[in-house]
Amino acid sequence: MAISETTRAQMREVLVDYPRKRSALMPLLHLAQADEGYISQDSIVVVSEMVELTEAEVTAVSSFYTMYLKRESGRVRVGVCINSLCAVLGGDEIWDSLVDHCGVGNNQTTDDGAVTLERIECQAACTHAPVMTANWEFLDDMTVEKAKQVVDDLRAGQAVQSTRGPVVRTFADAGRTIAGVDDGLTAEGEIRDDRMLAGLRLAQANGDAGRSAEAERQGAVNVKGR
Ligand code: FES
Repeated sequence: MAISETTRAQMREVLVDYPRKRSALMPLLHLAQADEGYISQDSIVVVSEMVELTEAEVTAVSSFYTMYLKRESGRVRVGVCINSLCAVLGGDEIWDSLVDHCGVGNNQTTDDGAVTLERIECQAACTHAPVMTANWEFLDDMTVEKAKQVVDDLRAGQAVQSTRGPVVRTFADAGRTIAGVDDGLTAEGEIRDDRMLAGLRLAQANGDAGRSAEAERQGAVNVKGR
C-alpha cells in the first residue's frame, strides 16, 4: 500500500514548520504510520525524500523508537506503565492481570484484532500512577478492575473516555495529532488538577517566587502541550 496523497499533503504542511527539513523526520514518520499502520519500506522511501535524508538514516530512527511499529497492531494499543513508580503502585499487578485477561503478551494482539498490549516506560504522568494509555490518551489512577473494564469496552467497540483528554480515538488519528496536525480537540480534557498543582502551591505558600513562577510556566507548557 502506498502513502496516500492526502497524507503526502499533510507531510508537506508539517514540513514548512521546520527550518531544517531533517527536523521534521519524526512527525513525518508518525504521519506515514497513521496512513499505513506501521513504518513500511514505502514510508521510509517517501519520508527520506521529503526530509532529504538517506533511507538508512530514516530506518535507523524508525527502528530505534518503540512508538514506530514494524507491523500493524490492533485497533487500540493499550499501554501499561511498568516503570518504578507505577509498578510499585499497581502497574505490575495491572500488567499481569491484563495478560491473563486478554491471553496475549507484550506487543501481541487479541484474536479479535481489537487490542494490542504494550509495556510502556514512564509517561511523565507519575502524579496519577499507576498510568495506562489507549492510543496514547491517558488513563490515570488505574486499578486492576478499571483496566479490565477499559479493555472489555474497547474490545466491544464502546467509547472509552480518557481521564484528561478526548474519547479514545483511532491509532491513526492519534498519530496525526502527535505529528502536529490540528485535531480541534485542544479544549478537551483537564490537566490542572489539585495533585499536579501541589508543588506550585507549596512553593507559593513558602514565598518561593522563583520556583513558583517556573512551575507556573511549566504548567502552562503542559496544558498547551496536553
Ligand atoms: S512511572 Fe509511570 S508515569 Fe511515571
